[in-house]
Formats: sequence, C-alpha cells, structure tokens
Amino acid sequence: MDGEENAKTYGVKDLRLLKGFGKYLKPYLGRFTFLIVLDLFVNFFFTAESYLMSLNLDVINEVLNGTRAMDEGKRLFFLYFGLDLGLLLLASIGAYLVNYDLRKIGQRVVYDLRQALFHHVLSLSRTELKKLKTGSFVTRITNDTQNLSSFFSDLLPQLVRNVFSVLFIQVLVFVRTGLFGFVFLAYLPIVFLLSLLFQKGARKYYLGEKDAVSEMNSFLSESFSGVLVVKTYHREEKMKDSFDRKNEAIYHNFLKGQDLFALFYPSMYLLQMSAVLILSALAVPEVAKGAMTVGVFYLLCTYTGQYFQPIQQIASLLNGLQSVFSSAERTLYLENMPEEKESEKGELVVPSFRGRIVFDHVSFRYPDGKEDVLHDVSFMVEPGETVAFVGPTGAGKSTILALMTRTYEPTEGRILLDGRDLREYSQSCLRKNLGVMLQDVFLFSGTVEENISLGDPSITSEDVRKASDFVMATPFIQSLPHGFKEPVKENGSNFSAGQRQLLSFARTLAFKPSLLLLDEATANIDTETEHVIQSSLRQLRKVGTLVVVAHRLSTIQDADHIFVIARGVVAEEGTHQELLKRKGTYYNLYRLQNLEENLSSPREEEHA
Ligand SMILES: Nc1ncnc2c1ncn2[C@@H]1O[C@H](COP(=O)(O)OP(=O)(O)O)[C@@H](O)[C@H]1O
Ligand SMILES: [Mg+2]
Repeated sequence: MDGEENAKTYGVKDLRLLKGFGKYLKPYLGRFTFLIVLDLFVNFFFTAESYLMSLNLDVINEVLNGTRAMDEGKRLFFLYFGLDLGLLLLASIGAYLVNYDLRKIGQRVVYDLRQALFHHVLSLSRTELKKLKTGSFVTRITNDTQNLSSFFSDLLPQLVRNVFSVLFIQVLVFVRTGLFGFVFLAYLPIVFLLSLLFQKGARKYYLGEKDAVSEMNSFLSESFSGVLVVKTYHREEKMKDSFDRKNEAIYHNFLKGQDLFALFYPSMYLLQMSAVLILSALAVPEVAKGAMTVGVFYLLCTYTGQYFQPIQQIASLLNGLQSVFSSAERTLYLENMPEEKESEKGELVVPSFRGRIVFDHVSFRYPDGKEDVLHDVSFMVEPGETVAFVGPTGAGKSTILALMTRTYEPTEGRILLDGRDLREYSQSCLRKNLGVMLQDVFLFSGTVEENISLGDPSITSEDVRKASDFVMATPFIQSLPHGFKEPVKENGSNFSAGQRQLLSFARTLAFKPSLLLLDEATANIDTETEHVIQSSLRQLRKVGTLVVVAHRLSTIQDADHIFVIARGVVAEEGTHQELLKRKGTYYNLYRLQNLEENLSSPREEEHA
C-alpha cells in the first residue's frame, strides 16, 4: 500500500504536520496574506449584494405604497443598483485575481518543495536510499507535493473564505432581521455535523473502493502471469471465488458510497426547506402586520439558501485535510531522512592507500535488523595481498565488504585501514581510493565507453582503453558491432552477467584505485567468460590489495589467504591447500562445486 493515500484518521493535533511546510510558503507570505484578505473582501461583496437588493425591494415597495416620493425612490433605486453593480464588478475582478494568483503561489511552493525533496534524495546515504521503494519515492515527489500545494492554494483559502461567509451572513441577518438570526444559528451545528458525518462515510467508502481496485489489479496481473499453472493444477474454481470476492468488494464500496450521496443531498435540501418554512411561518405574520418589510423577507429566504452551502463546504474541506495530512506525513518522512554525513570526524585525506586492513573484534547488526549479522570478527589483510571470503549464502560476506566501504559502520569493534580508523577518513577520500565492484553491476543507457568512464571528463578515451586492456575486456568489447561506442541498453540487458562484470572491472580500474573490493557475480557464467574473468582477476591483483568475495572457488585458489565465513564468524582460514587438508567447511564446499562442474561439463563438451 505504500504510495497510496492511507486510511488513517488525522485529528487537529496533526496540524503540526503542516508546520514544516511553512518555510516553503515564507517567500510568498506577503502576497499570500494580501490575497487572503482580498478574498475576504470579494466574499463580503458577493454576500452584501443580496443585502443591497433587499434594500431596493423595500424602496420599490415604499414607492408603491406611496410612503416614499417617486423622485427620491428612483434616486435611491439607482444608487443601490449602481452600488450593487459596482460591487459585483469589483468582486468579480478580485475573484479572478485571487484564484489565479493563489494557484500560482501554490505551484511555486510545489516547485520549490519538489526541488528541495529531490536534492535531498540525492544527498541520502545508501542505507537510507535502500529504505525507499522506487514507487513510493515517485509518488512522494509528484502527488504528495501537489496535494500539499493544494492546501495552500485551495484548501486553506477556501476554508477561510467559507468560515467568513458563514460569519458575514450571520451578522447581516442579525443586523437586518434581528432575532431571526437565531433560527440560522440553530441550524449551524446540525448542518455542520451532518455534513461532517457524511464526508467521513464517503471517504471511508472511497478509500475502500480504491483499495479494492488495487487489490484486483494485482490479483489479475498475478493470476494471468500464472494462468498456465492455474490450468495445469485445476485451480480455476478457487481463482473464480477469489476474483468474485474482490469484485464484490468494489461493488459494495461503490454502492455504499453512492447510497450516501443519494441520501445526503435530499436530506440537506429538506433541511433547507424546513428552515425556509420555519422562517416563513415566523415572518409572514410580521410582514402582514407590517412589522417586516418585503425586502427583509426576501433577504431571509435568499440567505437561507446561501447559508447552508459554506457550512457543507467547511465539512468537506476539513475532510480534504485528511489527505493533505497523509501527504504531509509521507513527505516529511522523506524530508527527515538523514543526509549522508560528510564523515563525522572524517577529515583525513591521503593520496592513496597501501592497503592494510584490520578488522578488530567487529560485530555488526543492520539498522533494521533483529540480531547481529557479524559476531566478533577479527582478521588482517596485508598490503598487496589477495584475500578471498567464501562461505554459504547469507553468511555475511557482502556485509563485510559493506563495512569496508563504510556503507555501514560496525556496531562494535573497529576497522583500521593503514593503521587509522576507517571513520577518520573523509568519504571522498574513501570513494576515490576504493575500487568497489559489486554483485549487481549498474549499467546505464549510453555507450560502453561512457559506462566505463561514467562520463567523467577527466577520464579520456585513452584511459578507458588502457583500463579495458588491463582487465582483458578489450577483445570482447571489440567484438561488438560498434566496439567502445556500442550502445548499452538500460540496466545493461544486452550484456551477459560475465560481460557486465568485465565492464565493471574496467570501470573501477579507470578510476585508478589503490585498494580493490570485489563481490563476485553469482549468476551463471559460461566457462569461456569465467576463464577471461580469472585472467582479469590475476591482472587486478597487480593493482594492490584485492579483497574478493568469491562464489566460484576456482577463481580464488591462488589467493594469498582465504577466509571461510559461516553464520557471521570466521570459521576457517588459510590457503587453498591448507584448507583442503583440514577437510572442513571449505573442503566440503570445494567438493560440492567440483561435483556440480563434473555434472555439467559433459554437456558442455557436447555443445562444443
Ligand atoms: N540491508 C540489510 N538489512 C538487513 N539485513 C540484511 C541486509 N543485507 C543483508 N542482511 C542479512 O545479513 C545476513 C548476511 O547477508 P550477506 O552479507 O549479504 O550474506 P552473503 O553475502 O554472505 O550471502 C543475511 O542474513 C541477510 O539476510
Ligand atoms: Mg553476498
């Protein structure tokens, strides 16, 4: 459900959610305030218009009765009429200005907010970024910000406008009709509470319907991708049931919602009519007695109609606040994600690393994890050595690399690089000197060359070529129709796992790192590419210290040191030969992989 408006109910105290967004309105605050005040005038003019009309009615009546001279009556009539027309004209121009300008401010606010959010996302640390699902991040930046801006441009001004509408009418009624104002006042809470109740119900069914529709969507796409499986196992009946239940939910929610609408509007109308009736019953005798003029009577009837609408709107706007709160909460979540710390203490900058790495009693737990993933791990890597980490999936190998790159920091213990705590180095120094090659190689649409140089202008075509020569990627690249200019599809889907790995080697090398960290690709790699990668790895060893997380033991047999990681501890260590002699975990892993290879190699020979 991430990325959707949630069904949570917010209260008055959630107004604090909006406080954080005040800063985006601040640059426009003067204009915003001016527009709100202008809006109040406009609104007052529109309301006062009926008032002038009622005065006019009285003038006509008085002239007809003969209580006022014709000449004077005419003069008054045109005065009121002219005033009315003038006010209407002014109010219309004002209304146009307010509407247009408020929207403009709203869009400015959303523009600034989006920009700020996006820049913030770019500054997030990798840990934080991983928490954001792409979909929810997209809606946060598009829909939620739009929702928030509509609060400033629509909701808030309308709320103010309607509250004052009610107030204006109430005051004018009291001024012109005296005690009749109390009849209006009596209706206020009834209309308001009824509207509020209706809005609450409508929202519930609206959200329910939206949920049901999205459930059906995912059900449909799942069941259709598995439709063959369904048929094979004769699960059609079960699927039909499942579908019918979802279909039912949409139907039910929609009808319930419509039901409410069907009920609400007539009830409001009835309520309004009842008010007119009561007022008439009270007023007609007064008019008959001559205690009330026709104009006042007209005003009562007109204002009854005008009084109900803003009250209903206030309820609807308050309800609309729910989705604004929901958006505010989701946007704040994004905004409050901590930025990547440009290293707390880390100021140390060195031109390159010698490459001695020490893990000193390191324990580690992921920020959202329940238990430690690494337990008191200690080891040492000497400069220039090639060491390998092997072990079953989930043992903690990739985690060790993540700690070496400072993607995460140890929960306990410390990591030393060339004798200094990793935390002392500045992030940019680490980034520059560590060559990291991860399991999932990120390729973007562009040419092969651009993917190797990452578009860095300081890396020339010559550098790209040298790097690729060094890691032995050149033969494969040159065999492509356009060589180094070969376009890479998004996600590198036109390259095999092995080829992507080679490109990643070349990319890393192009940046001339002094320490190499490699998390080997797990995906199946054909024997030919595997040989290339092995030679490539031998080349990489010449660069300096090389730390490899290996999945194919064949690639690291000649490593200087092999650590076997199991369940977050160093279970065994030694050279390939030493570890084989121990006949422990490594020996078993090795036998298992050899067995698999022997099983698959006859088939390979057939193809050859
Ligand atoms: N980002 C993460 N958040 C929480 N737990 C994680 C995360 N990444 C890995 N883990 C857990 O940590 C353990 C070690 O994972 P990992 O280092 O990736 O193992 P390996 O690379 O040896 O297969 C696993 O139990 C895994 O589920
Ligand atoms: Mg891994």
